[in-house]
Amino acid sequence: MKKTLFTLILLAGLITGLKAENPPDEGMWLPMFVERLNYVDMQKMGLKLTPQEIYDINHSSLKDAIVNLGGFCTAEVVSNQGLLFTNHHCSYDAIQKHSSIDHDYLTDGFWARSLEEELPNEGLTVSFLVKMDDVTSRVLEKVSPEMSESERSSAVGKAIEMLKEEESAEGKYEVSVKGFYNGNEYYRFVYEVYEDVRLVGAPPSAIGKFGGDTDNWMWPRHTGDFSIMRVYSGPDGKPAPYSKENIPLKPKHFLKISIDGVERGDYTMIWGYPGTTDRYRTSHGIQATLSEIDPAIVKVGGRILEIMKSDMDKSDEVRIKYASNYAGLANFWKNKIGEKRGLKRLDVYDKKKAIEDQFSSWVNAEESRKAIYGNALQDISDVYTAYAETKYNTKLWYLQISFFGSQMMAFPMQTQGIINILKSGQKGEELQTSLAPFYEMGTGQFKNYNPATEEKIVAAILEMYREDVPKDALPDIFNLIDKKFKGDVHLFAKKLFETSVLATEENYKAFLAKPSIKTFENDLGYKMTNSFYNSFMTQNMAVAPLGEKLKKAQRLFVDGLRKSNPEKVYYPDANSTMRVTFGQVLDYFPADAIHYDFRTYIDGIIEKEDPTNEEFIVPAKLKELYEKKDYGKWADKDGRLVVCFLSNNDITGGNSGSPILNGKGELIGLAFDGNWEAMSGDIAFEPELQRTINVDIRYVMFIIDKFANAQNLIDEIKIAQKTR
Ligand code: ARG
Repeated sequence: MKKTLFTLILLAGLITGLKAENPPDEGMWLPMFVERLNYVDMQKMGLKLTPQEIYDINHSSLKDAIVNLGGFCTAEVVSNQGLLFTNHHCSYDAIQKHSSIDHDYLTDGFWARSLEEELPNEGLTVSFLVKMDDVTSRVLEKVSPEMSESERSSAVGKAIEMLKEEESAEGKYEVSVKGFYNGNEYYRFVYEVYEDVRLVGAPPSAIGKFGGDTDNWMWPRHTGDFSIMRVYSGPDGKPAPYSKENIPLKPKHFLKISIDGVERGDYTMIWGYPGTTDRYRTSHGIQATLSEIDPAIVKVGGRILEIMKSDMDKSDEVRIKYASNYAGLANFWKNKIGEKRGLKRLDVYDKKKAIEDQFSSWVNAEESRKAIYGNALQDISDVYTAYAETKYNTKLWYLQISFFGSQMMAFPMQTQGIINILKSGQKGEELQTSLAPFYEMGTGQFKNYNPATEEKIVAAILEMYREDVPKDALPDIFNLIDKKFKGDVHLFAKKLFETSVLATEENYKAFLAKPSIKTFENDLGYKMTNSFYNSFMTQNMAVAPLGEKLKKAQRLFVDGLRKSNPEKVYYPDANSTMRVTFGQVLDYFPADAIHYDFRTYIDGIIEKEDPTNEEFIVPAKLKELYEKKDYGKWADKDGRLVVCFLSNNDITGGNSGSPILNGKGELIGLAFDGNWEAMSGDIAFEPELQRTINVDIRYVMFIIDKFANAQNLIDEIKIAQKTR
């Protein structure tokens, strides 16, 4: 049976001439197409499962064990009771929210010893993919080449709404239709979304985030980046909001653990929900990234991080409050530093240019091609030139990072609705009832908020705007700063934090109790945010035609590129849909004469230990286990304990928490990071240098077993028959 299938697939491949010509490790493939496009390669490299065992919509298959966690990470089902593994950094926000100085789960870790002790996480969801299908022809049915981009968008939008409706089963499913290959194809995804997801276990940050931001994005790595959650269903097994009556989900499929250990060259595959890649970005885009986008993020992000860090170092309370925001921004910021460096060192601009030259000669070889694709690259170039002239990308990213890094700046956007309520003329109790959601918003806002830190951040942002944004594009709040505060942003920020009803919890609550339209409209915090927002909207409107031009040109470029090379199967960019990437366990050479082996051991944790640096503290218990070599069955064949290992799978953000599986579909680790030498990987894959960093599943199990003594979990997780 297997053999026939194999031959059939091989034949199909020959007939259509389709072959994935990239190095097999490159590409994030859609599970639905794996049988047609990748299965032969996968089998050659060591996959032992049939196509139906990995993706089947009628029977349970591997895909049923892989879930999208909250839209930002991946998790996998590892027991018949809905137990999930994901990364520590994926649960970090949840762990932070459950933490206080008295229960500092960030520092001490958290282990539920029974179902009753598991902690609910409001707003966190887990989505199971029910099925997917190709709806390209139906989405593009009413689209014609003569249409303007906005006409096209609206035709596409309408078709998508209908296609979603069709499969939603009256709201039972969440359906999304997403564009692929820059809008040349469209696929539909049907999900079942569970809303009761509880925190089960997390190691202390000294394990789950060992090496901190210093080691982040780097190899050699010694981080136990895992945490444990559980998905609950209603008593009927269906999705249900959090309730005490809910029960652990009975999943369609769960993964077994392999304790065989990994060797160089072993087959690996990673399943998950990669967020975004931009592998078809042109040389013009690379230039904008290098000269404007990355520098903007690095400057604004870096300054905000400095301010947060200095206050976090001075107070445990501030440290806990800002931990999650800080980690998120620091991660993105360091990524962009690495991206900039990688793009330069790996000559990505020249590589893109070469692809574009090839594309152009293909276009120019035939008049009919010229008519369709002839302007694409010139249009792309024109748009980027126009962006650069107006410093569009600087303005865009200054704003995005400011709103991300400054809670004060973001809050007035959320609370704007207060004005409409006040204008409606409601009074007394009726008014207070209407304002109830805003009281709640305040509780959320000020829980992880320190006014003194926020004041410094606001002043720093204003200062950077003044330095780098063209005068005529500055938000008009700067007029007020000039007139009333002699141009001094610090004086302005000080006054804002003294007077704004949105800047401190006391002011905000006092205001809600006795609200007035005038106070709100004259509020410095409200005025500042409003002014930033308005200037952004004005700029956005001005560049909208450029955006449309770019979208169209980019779509044509990708379409032409694929047609110019019909032998090659191009994979689509990541877009938060389920993908599989396959490859092998592999070392690398980061620079001339330097070799990095593919695995790290616990010995390396001890080598890195530095009790004076909070990023490199080693918990006493872990040291004790190391000294006694008490690794149990989780040790490698030579008795040593492996912590992390490398593979050449092609992943990106969103894949965090993804299972890395062996050829039998057993769990050998969790993917959690990429490596410094290939940080330009989201834009161009680097086969020689690009690696995924995984935590070995045996280290995960060792921590649960020997470090945390969580026998309840060890009993629940199933170990596959050992084969070596
Ligand atoms: N670089 C990892 C990723 O983006 C996140 C690592 C979190 N750890 C940290 N030290 N901030 O998936």
